[in-house]
Parts: sequence; C-alpha cells; structure tokens
Amino acid sequence: MRISVVGTGYVGLVGAVGFAEKGHEVVCVDIDAAKVDAINAGRSPIHEVGLEELLQSNIGGNLRASTDLSDAVLNSELSLIAVGTPFDGERIDLSYIRDVSRQIGEVLASKDSYHVVVVKSTVVPGTTDDVVLPILEEASGKEAGKDFGVGMNPEFLREGDAVDDFMNPDRIVLGGIDDRTRDVLATAYASFGCAEIVRTSNKTAELIKYTANSLLATMISFSNEIANLCTAVGDVDVVDVMRGVHLDKRLTPVNGDGRRVWPGFVSYLESGCGFGGSCFPKDVKALISHGESLGEPMALLKSVIEINNAQPRKVIDLLDKHFSSLDGVRIAVLGLAFKPGTDDMRESPAISIVKELIARNADLSAFDPVAREEAEKLFEADRIRYGDTVAETIEGADALIILTRWDLFGSLPGLLSERAEQPLVIDARRMLDSSSTARYDGIGYPAG
Ligand code: UGA
Repeated sequence: MRISVVGTGYVGLVGAVGFAEKGHEVVCVDIDAAKVDAINAGRSPIHEVGLEELLQSNIGGNLRASTDLSDAVLNSELSLIAVGTPFDGERIDLSYIRDVSRQIGEVLASKDSYHVVVVKSTVVPGTTDDVVLPILEEASGKEAGKDFGVGMNPEFLREGDAVDDFMNPDRIVLGGIDDRTRDVLATAYASFGCAEIVRTSNKTAELIKYTANSLLATMISFSNEIANLCTAVGDVDVVDVMRGVHLDKRLTPVNGDGRRVWPGFVSYLESGCGFGGSCFPKDVKALISHGESLGEPMALLKSVIEINNAQPRKVIDLLDKHFSSLDGVRIAVLGLAFKPGTDDMRESPAISIVKELIARNADLSAFDPVAREEAEKLFEADRIRYGDTVAETIEGADALIILTRWDLFGSLPGLLSERAEQPLVIDARRMLDSSSTARYDGIGYPAG
C-alpha cells in the first residue's frame, strides 16, 4: 500500500519507517528541508533505539522523504497526519493539524480516486470529526464518506522503546467515520502480527489514547499520595505497603506452575518524585481542560496533577529534615532525565528540584548517563559540576539524591562501602534496598 506520513517527529518518523519495514511504499513529508535531507541521507533527526538502522535499511527502497505534500498525497492511498500539537499549559494548539488538513484537502480537490486521511497525533475527542473533517470537505469541495475517508489511529509508543512498540503493538485502534475508512487502515496494519484490533469511531479512538495515559499517570500519583501518607503516619515504609498491595493476584497473577507474573503496569504503582515527559503531564492537563469545557469537573485528574506538581518538593523536605540549612551543603544529583533510557528532560522532576537547590545555594554536582547536554541548557553553568562517572560525582558529597531510576545507580552501595564518611542517600525513586547504605532516606521511608 502507498502511504504518506505528514510530520517527521517522533510519531511520524517511527510510523513511516515501521510501515516501510512492513513492506509498504512510504513517503514522509516535512516542511523542514534539513530534516528531509537528513532522512534521505539515512540519518534520523531523533534518537530512538533501532530507528536509524531501520531507516537506513529502508531509505531509497520502500521509504523516501520529501517536502512536497501535494505529490505525496496524490501518489498514495492513505495519508497519516502526525504533526505536533503544542501545549500552552492548558490546551493543545491545533494550528498545525488545521494547516495540514487544509493542504491535504486542497490536493484532494484534484484527486480522482478515493483517499483516506487519518489523524495520528494525540488530539482531544471530537478533533478529527469536528475540526479535520470539515476542513477537508471545505478545501476539497468533496464529501467525506463518499469521496474520501477520515480516520483516527492513536499511537502507543514509549520514548526509548518506540520502534519496538510500533513493530510489536499490543493493540491497534482503528477509528473511522465508516467501515471503508477502517478497512483501508486495517490493510496498512495487516502484517502486524496478533495485536488486538479495536475498530471504533474517531471520538472513541481519541479518548482511548488520553484515557490510557491518564490511567498510568493516576497510578503514579496514587502511589505517591500513599507514600506521603506513610511519612505522615510514621514507622511505615511505602515499599512494604505497596508490596503487600502488589501481591494481590488480580494485579500479579500466579501461573499454573506457581510463578507470579509481574505485569509492566505494576511498576507505575511504585512511589517516587513524580512523573514527567512529553506525554503524561500534557495529556492529563489537556483532558482536564477539555472535560471542564464540557461541564465535567474532572476532579480526580486534577488531583493527579496537583499531587504530581507537589511531589518534587518532598525531596527538598527530606533534605530539610537532615540539614538545618542547605547553604553550601554538597549535594550530588543522580539522574536528570524524566525516566531512564532517554536524555529527555521535559517536565522532569529534576528541573524544579535542581532549581530550588540552586536558589538555596547548595554546592551541586550532577550525573546522568545521557541527559547532561539537556541539563546544561536548563541550568546556570557555574552552579553545577557535572561528573563523568557516579564515583566522581559523589566524591566529597554530604548528600546524594537519586532522581531517575537508572540501573547503574544500583552500584552506589558498593561505591559507598569503601568510604569512611558516609553521605546521606535520599532515594527519590525507592530503587535501592534501604539497608544497603549507612544513612538512607527516601520518599515514603520512615527514617527518624
Ligand atoms: C507514555 C505511555 O507509556 C505510552 O504508552 C504513550 O504512547 C506515550 O506516553 C505517549 O503518549 O506518546 P512515555 O512518556 O515515553 O510513554 O513514558 P513512560 O515510559 O510511560 O513513562 C512516563 C512516566 O511514568 C515517567 O515519569 C516514568 O518515570 C513513569 N514510569 C514509567 C513509572 O513510574 N513506571 C514505569 O514502569 C515506567
């Protein structure tokens, strides 16, 4: 099948490369000529595990990039809209979606054969039917359902695992105004193995995406609220509480052979210093304001955001518990990215924590295996020393704070065991065994 993908960001490029790998003839379109040139030269403008290799094996074969949207639409049967939806703190901005819909509509005016236009960007319920479809009709002078189809196909890609998530999906949601639209989309996904297919309306498809992310974000804030309660109750460790909860066989079923299965989502039920990234905070806030605009109070999701906004502060509270002033205290920040496996610092809890520590005049060193460059853009250069290794970064520190669950921080107890002076370890991700270091404290830990 011939597919055009408009927008070569994270969703668009991974999708374009993935569909090409599955044997479709794909052209990806972007207004940024430098990006298009890079893609055609086999260089990925974004970093995702396995993406560049897959791009290189398809470019010049099943895949090409172009700035010519008209040519791409005329020479394909299916167009996927994967442009950005910038967020102003409350609502998503649909201007790129509108612009691209209009341009595609104008091309459809002179296209004789049936074409399907599908929104892949994350958009609030109603956007595809009430914004994209009317623009397509107006710009083309044609009728949706007769001359062209309009669909919505959300993406469930995790940063750092995007290629694998695309190639091996757990579900494929095919939204559309009619069966003809969904059938065309289904053809694009025909060779994606045994993933469950959900055939539905555009609005439902849009809401599935937001609901999925809101649920995971809710689980994180729920666990963090319980962690904060453990601290208030005293003498209770949230790790023990959550272990007792996780062992419910409805959460972690026990196999016929007696072994317990730990589904991936259980890790969203662990406490920490809060969620970040480009999706959860933005998606939950966009859904709240959309719900409110429809008269729904969205009380639960508002609390999810409130708890998350307050959670980084708990790390500062823990430091305040141990030091009468942070002025001149040598603090090593371990982890800056919003999660392990990425250099992305968007909405990372580390941002507000480091800024507060700078304001409190702490003497800061920091280490992240990949996010240092991003951090250097965010913080004043003369206020943080970046270490090249964990050992170097914690040298002489009075306190260490673990802000990202990078596996290599598991080496800390070993590194610390050789030292005479033991620093305080504040484990804001609860990833270390609490007895593995001499002076341990953390989110939801009952240290006196
Ligand atoms: C998230 C969703 O997981 C994807 O399914 C979705 O497609 C994507 O948003 C999107 O909307 O594009 P992502 O933001 O890459 O993907 O991140 P996750 O790996 O889910 O992490 C989000 C937050 O959850 C992070 O703050 C992370 O620390 C936390 N997390 C992640 C956990 O608490 N436990 C985990 O096991 C994984």
